[in-house]
Amino acid sequence: MSQRKILITTALPYANGYIHLGHLVEYLQADFWTRFQNMRGNECVYICADDTHGTPIMVKARELGITPEQLIAQSYKEHTQDFADFQIKFSHYGSTNSAENKALCEYFYGKFVAGGHTRKQAIKQLFCEHDKMFLPDRFVKGTCPKCGAKEQYGDSCDVCGSTYSPSDMKDVHCSLCGTTPVLKDSESIFFKLNDFKKYLEEWIPKHSSPEISKKMLEWFNEDLHDLDISRDEPYFGFPIPGTDNKKFFYVWVDAPMGYMSSTEQWAKAQGKTLQDIWQDPTREIYHFIGKDIARFHTIFWPAFLKAAELRSPNQVFVHGHLMVNGEKMSKSKGTFIAARTYLNHMNPEHLRYYYSTKLSSSVDDIDLNMEDFVNRVNSDLVGKITNLGSRGGQMLKKKMDGIMSTPDAEGAKLIKSAQERGETIAAHFEARDFAKAITEIRGIADDANKYFDEKAPWKTLETDPAGTKQVITATLNIFRILAIYLKPVLPYYTEKVAKLLGEADYKWSDINTVLTNRSINEYEHLATRVEADKIKAMIEESRQINEKIQAEKKAASTAPAKAAAAPVAAKAAEGDRAPEIEFADFEKVDLRVGLVVEAEEIKEADKLLRLKIDIGNGEIRQIISGIKAAYKPEQLLGRKVLVCVNLKPRKMKFGMSEGMVLAAGTGGSDLFMLTPDEGAQVGQRVK
Ligand code: MSP
Ligand code: ZN
Repeated sequence: MSQRKILITTALPYANGYIHLGHLVEYLQADFWTRFQNMRGNECVYICADDTHGTPIMVKARELGITPEQLIAQSYKEHTQDFADFQIKFSHYGSTNSAENKALCEYFYGKFVAGGHTRKQAIKQLFCEHDKMFLPDRFVKGTCPKCGAKEQYGDSCDVCGSTYSPSDMKDVHCSLCGTTPVLKDSESIFFKLNDFKKYLEEWIPKHSSPEISKKMLEWFNEDLHDLDISRDEPYFGFPIPGTDNKKFFYVWVDAPMGYMSSTEQWAKAQGKTLQDIWQDPTREIYHFIGKDIARFHTIFWPAFLKAAELRSPNQVFVHGHLMVNGEKMSKSKGTFIAARTYLNHMNPEHLRYYYSTKLSSSVDDIDLNMEDFVNRVNSDLVGKITNLGSRGGQMLKKKMDGIMSTPDAEGAKLIKSAQERGETIAAHFEARDFAKAITEIRGIADDANKYFDEKAPWKTLETDPAGTKQVITATLNIFRILAIYLKPVLPYYTEKVAKLLGEADYKWSDINTVLTNRSINEYEHLATRVEADKIKAMIEESRQINEKIQAEKKAASTAPAKAAAAPVAAKAAEGDRAPEIEFADFEKVDLRVGLVVEAEEIKEADKLLRLKIDIGNGEIRQIISGIKAAYKPEQLLGRKVLVCVNLKPRKMKFGMSEGMVLAAGTGGSDLFMLTPDEGAQVGQRVK
């Protein structure tokens, strides 16, 4: 068979999060597949990158007090280290925040416009005056219009599962600061998806599995909704040409282009161009993705490519989601496990092996069952497969002269059968039915173990050394074939086996040789067992990490909330005024002169101080205030301040906050507490 040229991609992980075991379902299977293809003599290039743009990244950077660029640089380091430690080998790992990607994005957009596939339309969007940004649905919280559950996201309810838009919700507020967002007009740029309806209707069934295709075509019963490809500033992304840097490409526009720009960077390193690779009709292109992002890859992306008159991928391979012990990964249960947490306790090859026993080409979810995990690794990988090599190898090296002879007749037959099963195994790998490939491989190991146990060479060492050696020779040869078949899944393991046998760099076709009369090297430990204790420790660590992240998030999100009134009021004074109110409305606000009797820093929170304020008549209120950047506790102690005392108390992570202290300024260090003139009495009403 002539050499195939293949390019595969995996979805670009978001740069605002860590790599977890769910992600690895994808990056590992693509790694298995790439390694398999390359062993078969094909040229398979594996491309990925970090997905670096969008609101969540901007917000996360703000929370951490760093720039988005700093955040994505940090994630890049962590992601690539995690992947390397899981033995995932990319041909190139790029970033969507690259010059190549910007140029490409502008190129696509130019084509969209030239082809008449864009249109402008004014839309109303929720805007947070405090955070000074438009709020994507996921950044809006409120009461579910269907079931009344509180604190649900702006797009769907976690309790009853219904979907809606934020405008249907009650008690809508910004998930970051808790203030009520306002509706703001803004002109958006839409991509006219419907222009490609006919094209996509034909494209989808040819380029995705029947189950995915059926699901996607459900959208085609009516006109396709145009896609809003613009986002207003502030937004971390690429500015849209011709908008004065005021509008940016929506992250899902430049993200898939990251496949191409990262490919371009790889191509350049080979002295080639993007065209040479992407537009080469003899090169197969495949996207590996999870089912949650199928719509972006089978509807939007092929439409973009068509609009830009570029070639589309041959297939989109869609996998299901990872479950742990039969349930969705859970942060509180500690089953939402970071790649790094896993690595702190366990061996990456164990997960590689286990996933390979579970993966298929279907979109079904896959389950990481911890008990099953221990069994598969300990009884199959270690007990069945590795034992052949370790028992055979050690016997030959320690009890004999370390030199193989030739297989006996029965052993030779088994070797032949192991070789003959190669094409079936290869077909399973090719079809991404990794589980089936492993079942077949295990079958060979079962036969070899039966043979080894029946021959019981450890009993015949003295009485029949020549015959014993033949059995060991046959066993080692079968073990060698198993190691070659396992190389896509366990490359380092296979490397150690090659070293034991004085070889290197197995290709698939190496199964056809039989090693005879050859000395072997010292047996090196090949595989360890999984210890149940370590799993427990890993889950406990995950639980703790997630608890900590949760706490930090809460602290960060509630902190500015209390300071919110001040910046909003300040903003009103600076420009767009708050709407006129009746005196009666003003009367509702109960403002008093208070005295700060205690002030302390909340160590666990970046922005918070805890104040105890005497508001008169001996009543002491606790107020948690986001003013740490502007004031030291000792500057406030004993000071008179103005307090809103009838603000609904709010439960925060660090206790109840029972009121609000008035300040001017935009927040952070730009904040000025208001103090009454000399003579004002504690408890006096402010009017
Ligand atoms: N950034 C987008 C992809 C842009 S591609 C142009 C994204 N990122 S992600 O980090 O959320 O997910 C990356 C990939 O990992 C996706 O294919 C996603 O389906 C997959 N997985 C994320 N969590 C997963 C599980 N729990 N289980 C299996 N795969 C999952 O989406
Ligand atoms: Zn806000």
